[in-house]
Amino acid sequence: MLSSLLPAEVAVAETFDDPSDAVLFPEEEAAIARAVEKRRREYITARHCARLAMARLGLPPVAIGTGGNREPLWPAGVVGSMTHCDGYRAAAVARSVDVPGLGIDAEPHGALPTGVLDTIARPDEVPMLEALAAARPQVWWDRLLFSAKESVYKAWYPVAERWLGFEEASLDVEPGEVRDDGSITGGYTVRIHQSGAPLTRMAGRWMVESGFVVTAIVL
Ligand SMILES: CC(C)(COP(=O)(O)OP(=O)(O)OC[C@H]1O[C@@H](n2cnc3c(N)ncnc32)[C@H](O)[C@@H]1OP(=O)(O)O)[C@@H](O)C(=O)NCCC(=O)NCCS
Repeated sequence: MLSSLLPAEVAVAETFDDPSDAVLFPEEEAAIARAVEKRRREYITARHCARLAMARLGLPPVAIGTGGNREPLWPAGVVGSMTHCDGYRAAAVARSVDVPGLGIDAEPHGALPTGVLDTIARPDEVPMLEALAAARPQVWWDRLLFSAKESVYKAWYPVAERWLGFEEASLDVEPGEVRDDGSITGGYTVRIHQSGAPLTRMAGRWMVESGFVVTAIVL
Protein backbone atom coordinates (compact mmCIF):
# COMPACT_ATOMS: atom_id res chain seq x y z
CA MET A 1 0.00 0.00 0.00
CA LEU A 2 2.50 2.61 1.20
CA SER A 3 5.32 1.73 -1.18
CA SER A 4 3.27 2.88 -4.16
CA LEU A 5 3.27 6.39 -2.66
CA LEU A 6 7.03 6.60 -2.23
CA PRO A 7 10.06 6.78 -4.55
CA ALA A 8 12.39 3.81 -5.00
CA GLU A 9 15.01 5.33 -2.65
CA VAL A 10 12.60 4.88 0.26
CA ALA A 11 12.33 1.38 1.73
CA VAL A 12 9.00 0.44 3.26
CA ALA A 13 7.73 -2.35 5.47
CA GLU A 14 4.09 -2.66 6.50
CA THR A 15 1.95 -5.26 8.24
CA PHE A 16 -1.69 -5.81 9.11
CA ASP A 17 -0.96 -7.85 12.25
CA ASP A 18 1.63 -8.16 15.01
CA PRO A 19 4.29 -10.80 14.21
CA SER A 20 5.16 -12.94 17.22
CA ASP A 21 8.90 -12.92 16.40
CA ALA A 22 9.28 -9.12 16.69
CA VAL A 23 11.74 -8.15 19.43
CA LEU A 24 13.02 -4.92 20.95
CA PHE A 25 16.48 -3.69 21.91
CA PRO A 26 16.92 -3.08 25.67
CA GLU A 27 16.72 0.73 25.38
CA GLU A 28 13.50 0.43 23.36
CA GLU A 29 12.11 -1.97 25.97
CA ALA A 30 12.92 0.59 28.65
CA ALA A 31 10.98 3.27 26.76
CA ILE A 32 7.73 1.28 26.95
CA ALA A 33 8.30 -0.64 30.16
CA ARG A 34 5.18 0.83 31.75
CA ALA A 35 3.00 0.94 28.63
CA VAL A 36 -0.28 -0.95 28.28
CA GLU A 37 -0.40 -4.00 26.00
CA LYS A 38 -1.99 -2.18 23.04
CA ARG A 39 0.76 0.46 23.09
CA ARG A 40 3.47 -2.22 23.45
CA ARG A 41 2.18 -4.10 20.42
CA GLU A 42 2.11 -1.05 18.12
CA TYR A 43 5.54 0.14 19.30
CA ILE A 44 7.16 -3.29 18.89
CA THR A 45 5.65 -3.98 15.47
CA ALA A 46 6.43 -0.53 14.04
CA ARG A 47 10.07 -0.93 15.10
CA HIS A 48 10.08 -4.43 13.61
CA CYS A 49 8.88 -2.82 10.34
CA ALA A 50 11.59 -0.16 10.63
CA ARG A 51 14.32 -2.79 10.92
CA LEU A 52 12.88 -4.74 7.97
CA ALA A 53 12.88 -1.56 5.90
CA MET A 54 16.44 -0.72 7.00
CA ALA A 55 17.56 -4.24 6.00
CA ARG A 56 16.16 -3.54 2.52
CA LEU A 57 18.63 -0.63 2.35
CA GLY A 58 21.46 -2.93 3.50
CA LEU A 59 21.52 -1.39 6.97
CA PRO A 60 22.07 -3.48 10.14
CA PRO A 61 19.41 -3.79 12.87
CA VAL A 62 19.84 -1.13 15.57
CA ALA A 63 17.76 0.35 18.35
CA ILE A 64 15.50 3.23 17.33
CA GLY A 65 15.14 5.37 20.42
CA THR A 66 12.60 8.04 21.20
CA GLY A 67 13.43 11.74 21.54
CA GLY A 68 11.98 14.32 23.90
CA ASN A 69 9.11 15.13 21.57
CA ARG A 70 8.40 11.48 20.82
CA GLU A 71 10.35 11.62 17.55
CA PRO A 72 12.11 8.41 16.49
CA LEU A 73 15.91 8.60 16.78
CA TRP A 74 17.28 7.08 13.58
CA PRO A 75 20.93 6.11 13.21
CA ALA A 76 23.29 8.63 11.56
CA GLY A 77 22.72 8.87 7.83
CA VAL A 78 19.17 7.52 8.00
CA VAL A 79 15.83 9.34 7.85
CA GLY A 80 12.51 7.66 8.45
CA SER A 81 9.02 7.69 9.81
CA MET A 82 6.66 5.24 11.51
CA THR A 83 2.91 4.96 11.90
CA HIS A 84 0.42 2.64 13.59
CA CYS A 85 -3.33 2.45 13.89
CA ASP A 86 -5.74 -0.42 14.63
CA GLY A 87 -4.95 -3.16 12.09
CA TYR A 88 -1.99 -1.50 10.39
CA ARG A 89 1.65 -0.64 11.19
CA ALA A 90 4.34 0.67 8.85
CA ALA A 91 7.78 2.23 8.62
CA ALA A 92 9.55 4.02 5.78
CA VAL A 93 13.29 4.73 5.77
CA ALA A 94 15.89 6.16 3.42
CA ARG A 95 19.52 7.16 3.42
CA SER A 96 19.78 10.89 4.11
CA VAL A 97 22.07 11.32 1.09
CA ASP A 98 19.08 10.27 -1.05
CA VAL A 99 16.18 11.86 0.83
CA PRO A 100 16.38 14.78 3.31
CA GLY A 101 13.36 13.67 5.30
CA LEU A 102 9.98 11.98 5.19
CA GLY A 103 6.76 11.49 7.08
CA ILE A 104 4.09 8.78 6.87
CA ASP A 105 0.73 8.34 8.53
CA ALA A 106 -2.12 5.81 8.45
CA GLU A 107 -5.65 6.10 9.77
CA PRO A 108 -8.77 3.94 9.62
CA HIS A 109 -10.87 5.16 6.68
CA GLY A 110 -13.86 6.62 8.47
CA ALA A 111 -15.25 9.94 9.62
CA LEU A 112 -13.30 11.94 12.19
CA PRO A 113 -14.98 12.18 15.59
CA THR A 114 -17.42 15.07 15.86
CA GLY A 115 -15.69 18.40 16.41
CA VAL A 116 -12.18 17.33 15.40
CA LEU A 117 -12.36 18.81 11.91
CA ASP A 118 -12.89 22.28 13.39
CA THR A 119 -9.57 21.97 15.21
CA ILE A 120 -7.49 20.65 12.31
CA ALA A 121 -8.84 22.44 9.21
CA ARG A 122 -8.10 26.04 8.32
CA PRO A 123 -11.10 28.07 7.14
CA ASP A 124 -9.65 28.13 3.61
CA GLU A 125 -9.56 24.31 3.56
CA VAL A 126 -13.29 23.88 4.27
CA PRO A 127 -14.53 24.80 0.74
CA MET A 128 -11.89 22.45 -0.69
CA LEU A 129 -13.18 19.59 1.47
CA GLU A 130 -16.75 20.32 0.34
CA ALA A 131 -15.71 20.27 -3.32
CA LEU A 132 -13.77 17.03 -2.84
CA ALA A 133 -16.76 15.41 -1.10
CA ALA A 134 -19.01 16.41 -4.01
CA ALA A 135 -16.53 15.02 -6.57
CA ARG A 136 -15.72 11.80 -4.73
CA PRO A 137 -18.23 11.07 -1.93
CA GLN A 138 -16.75 7.62 -1.13
CA VAL A 139 -13.69 9.22 0.51
CA TRP A 140 -13.72 10.49 4.10
CA TRP A 141 -11.90 13.74 3.24
CA ASP A 142 -11.86 14.98 6.83
CA ARG A 143 -9.87 11.90 7.86
CA LEU A 144 -7.62 12.25 4.85
CA LEU A 145 -6.84 15.87 5.74
CA PHE A 146 -6.02 14.83 9.30
CA SER A 147 -3.67 12.05 8.16
CA ALA A 148 -2.01 14.29 5.57
CA LYS A 149 -1.30 16.89 8.28
CA GLU A 150 0.13 14.24 10.60
CA SER A 151 2.51 13.23 7.80
CA VAL A 152 3.46 16.87 7.41
CA TYR A 153 4.31 17.11 11.10
CA LYS A 154 6.40 13.91 11.07
CA ALA A 155 8.43 15.20 8.09
CA TRP A 156 8.64 18.71 9.57
CA TYR A 157 9.71 17.97 13.13
CA PRO A 158 13.16 16.34 12.57
CA VAL A 159 14.14 19.27 10.33
CA ALA A 160 12.57 22.16 12.26
CA GLU A 161 12.79 20.68 15.77
CA ARG A 162 9.76 22.68 16.81
CA TRP A 163 6.00 22.46 17.00
CA LEU A 164 3.78 22.99 13.96
CA GLY A 165 0.10 23.58 14.60
CA PHE A 166 -2.65 22.26 12.36
CA GLU A 167 -3.54 25.86 11.51
CA GLU A 168 0.03 26.53 10.35
CA ALA A 169 -0.21 24.30 7.29
CA SER A 170 -2.66 24.71 4.43
CA LEU A 171 -3.17 21.77 2.16
CA ASP A 172 -4.32 21.57 -1.42
CA VAL A 173 -5.59 18.04 -1.94
CA GLU A 174 -6.21 16.50 -5.38
CA PRO A 175 -9.39 14.45 -5.92
CA GLY A 176 -7.15 11.61 -7.14
CA GLU A 177 -8.07 8.69 -9.35
CA VAL A 178 -9.74 5.33 -8.82
CA ARG A 179 -7.54 2.41 -9.83
CA ASP A 180 -8.70 -0.90 -11.31
CA ASP A 181 -8.28 -2.59 -7.91
CA GLY A 182 -10.67 -0.07 -6.29
CA SER A 183 -8.00 1.88 -4.42
CA ILE A 184 -8.03 5.66 -4.78
CA THR A 185 -4.83 7.65 -4.90
CA GLY A 186 -3.77 11.24 -5.40
CA GLY A 187 -1.40 13.98 -4.33
CA TYR A 188 -1.40 17.03 -2.11
CA THR A 189 0.69 20.13 -1.71
CA VAL A 190 1.42 21.95 1.52
CA ARG A 191 2.16 25.56 2.38
CA ILE A 192 3.56 26.30 5.83
CA HIS A 193 2.49 29.52 7.56
CA GLN A 194 5.01 29.95 10.37
CA SER A 195 7.44 32.81 10.75
CA GLY A 196 11.05 31.73 10.15
CA ALA A 197 9.99 28.25 9.08
CA PRO A 198 12.89 26.20 7.66
CA LEU A 199 10.42 24.51 5.31
CA THR A 200 7.71 26.45 3.51
CA ARG A 201 6.42 23.97 0.95
CA MET A 202 6.02 20.22 0.78
CA ALA A 203 4.32 17.72 -1.48
CA GLY A 204 2.78 14.40 -0.58
CA ARG A 205 0.75 11.45 -1.86
CA TRP A 206 -2.31 9.78 -0.39
CA MET A 207 -4.14 6.49 -0.87
CA VAL A 208 -7.40 4.97 0.32
CA GLU A 209 -7.26 1.18 0.28
CA SER A 210 -8.39 -1.82 2.35
CA GLY A 211 -10.20 0.38 4.85
CA PHE A 212 -7.23 2.67 5.53
CA VAL A 213 -6.09 6.15 4.54
CA VAL A 214 -2.32 6.35 4.14
CA THR A 215 -0.37 9.51 3.44
CA ALA A 216 3.29 10.18 2.78
CA ILE A 217 5.50 13.24 2.45
CA VAL A 218 9.00 13.13 1.00
CA LEU A 219 11.03 16.30 1.40
C1 LIG B 1 2.99 12.97 16.83
C2 LIG B 1 1.75 12.68 16.06
C3 LIG B 1 1.89 13.30 14.65
C4 LIG B 1 1.59 11.15 15.92
O1 LIG B 1 0.54 10.82 15.07
P1 LIG B 1 -0.57 9.72 15.48
O2 LIG B 1 -1.57 9.64 14.36
O3 LIG B 1 -1.05 10.04 16.84
O4 LIG B 1 0.16 8.36 15.59
P2 LIG B 1 0.90 7.44 14.53
O5 LIG B 1 0.77 6.07 15.02
O6 LIG B 1 0.51 7.65 13.11
O7 LIG B 1 2.41 7.91 14.67
C5 LIG B 1 3.08 7.73 15.85
C6 LIG B 1 4.54 7.76 15.54
O8 LIG B 1 4.89 9.05 15.05
C7 LIG B 1 6.25 9.25 15.33
N1 LIG B 1 6.40 10.57 15.94
C8 LIG B 1 5.91 10.98 17.12
N2 LIG B 1 6.32 12.23 17.38
C9 LIG B 1 7.07 12.61 16.33
C10 LIG B 1 7.78 13.79 16.03
N3 LIG B 1 7.82 14.84 16.88
N4 LIG B 1 8.46 13.86 14.87
C11 LIG B 1 8.46 12.81 14.01
N5 LIG B 1 7.82 11.64 14.25
C12 LIG B 1 7.13 11.56 15.41
C13 LIG B 1 6.70 8.16 16.31
O9 LIG B 1 7.45 7.20 15.59
C14 LIG B 1 5.37 7.58 16.76
O10 LIG B 1 5.40 6.20 17.05
P3 LIG B 1 6.17 5.63 18.35
O11 LIG B 1 5.83 6.54 19.48
O12 LIG B 1 5.64 4.24 18.50
O13 LIG B 1 7.63 5.70 17.97
C15 LIG B 1 0.48 13.27 16.72
O14 LIG B 1 0.19 12.55 17.90
C16 LIG B 1 0.63 14.73 17.10
O15 LIG B 1 1.14 15.09 18.13
N6 LIG B 1 0.09 15.64 16.25
C17 LIG B 1 0.09 17.05 16.55
C18 LIG B 1 1.03 17.82 15.65
C19 LIG B 1 0.51 17.86 14.26
O16 LIG B 1 0.15 16.86 13.71
N7 LIG B 1 0.48 19.06 13.65
C20 LIG B 1 -0.06 19.21 12.34
C21 LIG B 1 0.88 19.99 11.50
S1 LIG B 1 0.14 20.37 9.94
